[in-house]
Amino acid sequence: MTRLAIFGGEPIRRTPFARWPQFDEREQAALIEVLESGVWGGYNPKVAEFEQAFADFHEAKYGVTAANGTVTLEAALLAVGVHAGDEVIVPPISFIATATAVLRVGATPVFADIDEATYNLDPARIREALTERTRAIIPVHFAGQPAEMDALLEIAEERDLALIEDCAHAHGATWRGRRVGSFGTFGSFSFQASKNMTAGEGGILITNDSTLAERARSVCNQGRRSGGAWYEHVRLGTNYRLSGWQAAVLLAQLARLPQQLETRTANAKYLADQLSQLDIVTTPYVDERVTCHSYYLYPLRLNRERFPDLSKEKFVRALSAEGIPVAEGYPHPLYRNHVFEQHAHRRGDCPAAERMCEEVCWVSHEILLARQEDLRDFVAAVAKLSEHAVELARGDG
Ligand SMILES: Cc1ncc(COP(=O)(O)O)c(C=O)c1O
Repeated sequence: MTRLAIFGGEPIRRTPFARWPQFDEREQAALIEVLESGVWGGYNPKVAEFEQAFADFHEAKYGVTAANGTVTLEAALLAVGVHAGDEVIVPPISFIATATAVLRVGATPVFADIDEATYNLDPARIREALTERTRAIIPVHFAGQPAEMDALLEIAEERDLALIEDCAHAHGATWRGRRVGSFGTFGSFSFQASKNMTAGEGGILITNDSTLAERARSVCNQGRRSGGAWYEHVRLGTNYRLSGWQAAVLLAQLARLPQQLETRTANAKYLADQLSQLDIVTTPYVDERVTCHSYYLYPLRLNRERFPDLSKEKFVRALSAEGIPVAEGYPHPLYRNHVFEQHAHRRGDCPAAERMCEEVCWVSHEILLARQEDLRDFVAAVAKLSEHAVELARGDG
């Protein structure tokens, strides 16, 4: 009988999975071009070229690049005029930046619970969190699945709120056939090293509003105005500019994105078909209005009803021992971080977020770019854990 690798058995796989980031001669040639141009900073024409290409791809009019996907959120909040005393509704299931960007502009983050199935902000919980002070909502398209945009747009319109889509996980994802980032007041993307498009670091805001685009650009470029003089500063800004190097790499990454989205979608379907036959985990639920999930993450939910004694941490250790790179995921909802002991925030009850952190781990998107034989190893490893779930939970092998 086979033994689990965590208890000394043979692992399913010893060879590494696909590496991330990926690049080819397109990135290399573009970097050489910047090198030889002598214009290495944010005024290299590739920056403006990338801004327009990325905005076009996401069906928005304007693109404003910045140093990363944290300061893009801050710039968006500043551009829409969020300030001290205002409240901004955010999900507790996200990376810390979604909530700390609100603190950084002096406003108060208000955590509303997520939907149990999609892990995205639950519109009913948003309604409960609204007050006279609410000025904006920052939905996160968690893992690459667009948030409930129909309901979010309705709430934002009803209450005259800014809707800043945090699209850090969702490059190219679509809701009812339209790309994310162009629904709200702003869409904010990250190009940090792990993201589906990357230049190591970087970020962009997209919007359809020329005034807001100009304000965000000014915040990111020392308070300058478009067409203004170098030493003319019309508002409080700072230097958040993206460099020519990053724009060069991102143009090549954008060209590769459509094919990668197709590959991830096909492989996610294969995984869903195969893994749904195993009772140890539940595969991602995808809302039928989601027409493209970008699968930055592929979340696996441990079936705790069936295996109440099996912890997420143990499952992850066992799957890793079989040679599958799996991450534990978020250890707790954002509001449990010490930073919120020092800064004002509010929250409703978030039982779905608490449960999610106990039960959900994930593999990241490069696994979904792997070959079918690699994915077969993934399925075989989960099947092995499923078969040995009771002894894994007991821990005695
Ligand atoms: C949901 C979310 N928002 C914002 C960020 C911040 O982006 P960056 O790391 O580029 O600052 C990240 C990730 O890093 C993220 O996952």
